[in-house]
Amino acid sequence: MFTIKQLSKQEIISIIKKAINIKQNNSKLINNNSIANIFIEPSTRTKISFEKAERELGMDVYNLDYDSSSLNKKESLYDTVCTLKSYGINNFIIRSNESEYWKNLLTINDIKIINAGDGSKNHPTQALLDAMTIYEQFKSLDNLTILISGDIVNSRVYHSFIQLMSNFNSKLIVSAPKELQKNDLKIKYVNFSEKLPIADVIIMLRIQHERHKNKYTQQNYNKKYGINNTNIKNMKKNAIVMHPGPINREIEIANDVSYDDPKIKILEQVKNGLYIRKVLLESL
Ligand code: CP
Repeated sequence: MFTIKQLSKQEIISIIKKAINIKQNNSKLINNNSIANIFIEPSTRTKISFEKAERELGMDVYNLDYDSSSLNKKESLYDTVCTLKSYGINNFIIRSNESEYWKNLLTINDIKIINAGDGSKNHPTQALLDAMTIYEQFKSLDNLTILISGDIVNSRVYHSFIQLMSNFNSKLIVSAPKELQKNDLKIKYVNFSEKLPIADVIIMLRIQHERHKNKYTQQNYNKKYGINNTNIKNMKKNAIVMHPGPINREIEIANDVSYDDPKIKILEQVKNGLYIRKVLLESL
């Protein structure tokens, strides 16, 4: 069909009556198995692992991203979710660059949301997969020294991880250049190179270039705050390096650091994302 002119009056009424018939026989429109992945911000790991987990669980999956949806025509997230709910979709995986976007969606009845990252505030599934990666290595989340280095001020990964770790008895120490530090007197910043040899876990945080007003550059960042094949030798025997990804190579992690190094658990984190997200989807 190209134009309405192709339809006769009888055909129009016939189509409308058939649609009403389907609507009346389709009273259970809401399908708990339907899920929409709404990614307003770019993602590789979170998006693909959620989608793979959903498909492996036999869910009915719909993907919506910013560029190809009416979000790009300034439709709000609230209106987008209400629209998809009208099609019977009531489970949502949502990532947005707006911190706590989900607060605007709490009034929509009968939907479930898993937050796939909001602005610089929360990334709960990342925190869980990070904790799983540490737990696999040490069989515990207690009695560890965890050194976190990077873009503390903009990192939702940091924010969610410290919330998660507040349930356990480990020591968290933080390192960052002044301009990437959070304005929080409770955080005592340490010298990365000095603390590297005593840490069990080293978490590198990505410089969030997209959240910086001015282009962020710092000479010798990797030497002072990052991991390379020289300083990796100073780590404890069982210590591990993590990074939520995506990596800025030569900044947080030098090019010469290989995924094959047994201390580098970055691809293990990626893998664990699939399993953590599957568990969360099963609980919807
Ligand atoms: N760690 C993380 O959230 O990666 P993506 O942005 O690729 O999903």
